[in-house]
Amino acid sequence: MRINYRSKAELAEMREAGVVAATILEEMCQAAKPGVSTWDLEMIARRGIEKFKVKSAFLGYASPPYPAVLCASINEVIVHGIPNKKDVLKDGDIIGIDFGIFKNGWCADNARTVCVGNVSPENRRLVDTAREALDKAIALCLPNNRLGDLGHAVQSHAESRGYSVVRQFVGHGIGRQMHEDPQVANFTENGRPDSGKRIKSGLVIAVEPMVNAGAPEVEILSDEWTAVTKDRSMSAHFEHTIAVTDNGPWVLTKL
Ligand code: MF3
Ligand code: CO
Repeated sequence: MRINYRSKAELAEMREAGVVAATILEEMCQAAKPGVSTWDLEMIARRGIEKFKVKSAFLGYASPPYPAVLCASINEVIVHGIPNKKDVLKDGDIIGIDFGIFKNGWCADNARTVCVGNVSPENRRLVDTAREALDKAIALCLPNNRLGDLGHAVQSHAESRGYSVVRQFVGHGIGRQMHEDPQVANFTENGRPDSGKRIKSGLVIAVEPMVNAGAPEVEILSDEWTAVTKDRSMSAHFEHTIAVTDNGPWVLTKL
């Protein structure tokens, strides 16, 4: 476990990556309307990558190599849905859009779940809860807090609404690589906040709660990427890249 702590100057460079990731994500979110395919979103993202002269953090990642520059995760898909011409958004869907890039060798990772057209109150409540859970975790990204404080905040908020948090995927340190130490869980083992590593100034983490309407269990589809809820309940995902500073949390992917 080797945790990197970034200087003020390095954080300023990471912020540039964050703005580009967030700008392109915003464009995709605006485009996520009924009749639009997830491959249309891929095209928007690829154009943005060219325009800003940055590099995809996702394309070719891991094994089997991830085949796209974003993840498009509709309804019961938790994360890592692969963009596809046949996946056309319909009124009432919720779609998690996850996007990461490198700019000047620094990575930024940013995701949001958006409501497509008229979404049921039940599903809007799920999406709102996942966003709120991330906001609560961000507020705790302060020197001297502990990573378990974040996990506890996410878990207790989601569970207070009758939802569950996914255990199989976690947030992560981020910097020169997309995935660095430490892991940032959205839960705690003992249900208590005061556990885990102590947070210090200069730490940069991608916090990414995944909240399921039903049970927390995950199933991976035969493409070896798409992660769906085992019970096929709906799921929502939000992610920001956050720097811990002495002046409080700096959300590098916030526009
Ligand atoms: N935000 C996700 C993560 O941090 C995106 C990874 S998708 C991948 O793991 F294709 F790059 F793996
Ligand atoms: Co991430």
